[in-house]
Amino acid sequence: MKFLVCGKGGSGKSTISVLMARAFQRMGKRVLLVDADESNLGLHRLAGSPSAETLLETMGGKAGLQARKQAVFPSPACPAFYETAFTWEDIPERCVPAADGIRLLKIGKIKTFGEGCACPMGGVLRPFLDHFQTGPDDCMIVDMAAGVEHFGRSVDAHGDRIIGIIDPSFESFKLARILRKLSAGAGTPIAFVLNKADARMREAIGRFIDPALIWAELREHDDLFLAGLEGRPIVFEAAEIDELCRRLESADVAS
Ligand SMILES: Nc1ncnc2c1ncn2[C@@H]1O[C@H](COP(=O)(O)OP(=O)(O)O)[C@@H](O)[C@H]1O
Ligand SMILES: [Mg+2]
Repeated sequence: MKFLVCGKGGSGKSTISVLMARAFQRMGKRVLLVDADESNLGLHRLAGSPSAETLLETMGGKAGLQARKQAVFPSPACPAFYETAFTWEDIPERCVPAADGIRLLKIGKIKTFGEGCACPMGGVLRPFLDHFQTGPDDCMIVDMAAGVEHFGRSVDAHGDRIIGIIDPSFESFKLARILRKLSAGAGTPIAFVLNKADARMREAIGRFIDPALIWAELREHDDLFLAGLEGRPIVFEAAEIDELCRRLESADVAS
C-alpha cells in the first residue's frame, strides 16, 4: 500500500502522515514514511527519528543523479536508477533510521543558495514510487511537497491512494476541488481528511467536494499543536486516524 499525503502548506500533511504511520504500525504493518517535501525540516523530529542522509545524497547529489541518467551502460554497482526495482533491503541503512519501528526516508532537500530547482527530487521520487515493491504487510506513507507541482510531473500516478488534507481555509477548499480533478487525471483514487475541523468547516466544505469523499475528520488537539511547536515526537493517538487507516486497509484488500 502506498499513500500519498497531499495538500497545501501548513494544512497538516506532516502531522497526519506521522499519525497514519503510527496507526498502521499498531495494525502490524512494516511502515516506511517518505519525506518528499524538500521544505520539511522537522518531519524526523515529529516521527522521533534521527536526521539522516537523503536518498539524493546517497546517489551523489544532483551531479551523481545526472551521471546515472546519462550512463548508457550502467554497471551492476551503479544500476540505472530509472529501471531498478526496489525493495526495503535495497535502501541503504544510513538513509532509513528506524524510530520505534517506523523507518523514515528523506528524498532530498535544498541546502545551498543557488543550487537549482527541486526537479531532481521529483525526478527521484517518481521512479522510486513506481519501482518500490511493497508486500501485503508493507505500508508506505509519502508526505508530499505542498501544492500540486508533483501532479504536473505525473508522480501521483504511482500511489494506491491520495490522501488530501484540508484545513479550514477557503484556499484549502479550492485546492481540494483541484486535487479531486488531478487525482482523477492520475487514475489514483482520493480520500480527504478534514484537519482542525469543526461544525463550521464541515458545513463550508460541502460546497466544494462531495462529502462522501471525506473519510476522516480531526479536530484541533493541543498535543499535536505542542509537538509541532516544540519539534518533538508525536505520541498522541487519534482514534479518527486509526479508523481511517482501517478503512484504507479494507479498501485496499477489496480492490
Ligand atoms: N489537528 C491539529 N491540531 C493542532 N495542531 C495541528 C493539527 N494539525 C496540524 N497542526 C499544527 O499545524 C501546523 C502545520 O502542520 P504540518 O503538519 O506541519 O503541516 P504541513 O506538513 O502540511 O505543512 C503545525 O504547527 C502542526 O503542529
Ligand atoms: Mg510538512
